[in-house]
Amino acid sequence: MPEKIRPFLKWAGNKYRIMDQIRRKLPQGKRLIEPFVGSAAVFLNTDYDRYLLTDTNTDLIELYKTLKNEGQDFIDYSNSFFIDKNNCEERYYHFREVFNTTDDIRLKSALFIYMNRHGYNGLCRYNSKGIYNVPFGRYKKPYFPEKEMQLFHKKSRRAVFKTQNFDISMKAAREGDVVYCDPPYVPLSLTSSFTAYAANSFGETEQKVLTKVAEELSARDIKVLISNHHTPFTKKMYHMADITRFEVQRFISCKGHKRDRARELLALFA
Ligand SMILES: C[S@@+](CC[C@H](N)C(=O)[O-])C[C@H]1O[C@@H](n2cnc3c(N)ncnc32)[C@H](O)[C@@H]1O
Repeated sequence: MPEKIRPFLKWAGNKYRIMDQIRRKLPQGKRLIEPFVGSAAVFLNTDYDRYLLTDTNTDLIELYKTLKNEGQDFIDYSNSFFIDKNNCEERYYHFREVFNTTDDIRLKSALFIYMNRHGYNGLCRYNSKGIYNVPFGRYKKPYFPEKEMQLFHKKSRRAVFKTQNFDISMKAAREGDVVYCDPPYVPLSLTSSFTAYAANSFGETEQKVLTKVAEELSARDIKVLISNHHTPFTKKMYHMADITRFEVQRFISCKGHKRDRARELLALFA
């Protein structure tokens, strides 16, 4: 297996650690479509001729477009925010305010990286009005991911980035395409219900729509691989798929920040 490339953003649920399992299951094809691209760990660690990479997070996709178009100039500009003077609460909240009010996409994109590395736990969170509201993170020396951004820029020549809902991206699939879906996961237990989940606007309905579109695509000979928790709900929902299950070590914050093992699956609709 080739060496793994780290995404340049910290991202909840990123697939860097389980790339080997994913690579084993991903079918071959000319183009990979990722409707939930996040930090793009799968894009960076696979070798398709072309990619369609989409997400509903506009700030994320605009950042990717800027990095693709501008390369090292934008990397240097983003780096200019990573100075000791800017690693304090006052400057962080100032830049967060600028981020939330500016129309300058280049500045907003650079600040997205600054906040990703200086904000609390690498979280990306917005309130109901779409205002970015992650508190200051208190890191000693935030890392600037120069090398990781350069690798992303180099590979982005093969990619098209779009802000759009997952179903639109899936329906864009044509013969020869492969689709990898990494949606917000279903709750692990019945006690953490979909109601809480609905705050992320990705609830039971969206999970079922995703499954239905995957079934429709596989009926047209377009293969779809989906990641999710392995629960009785997903096992039933993905009954048409070939399921591989495995355990991953992960941070479960509701259990007092201790590390735990979570059961995951890869469902292949082929
Ligand atoms: C688990 S993360 C994907 C992680 C990614 N595979 C990685 O390696 O970093 C889920 C992503 O889905 C996006 N998302 C949430 N709801 C969506 C929707 N309805 N359509 C498309 N993307 C959505 C989120 O913005 C988030 O980036």
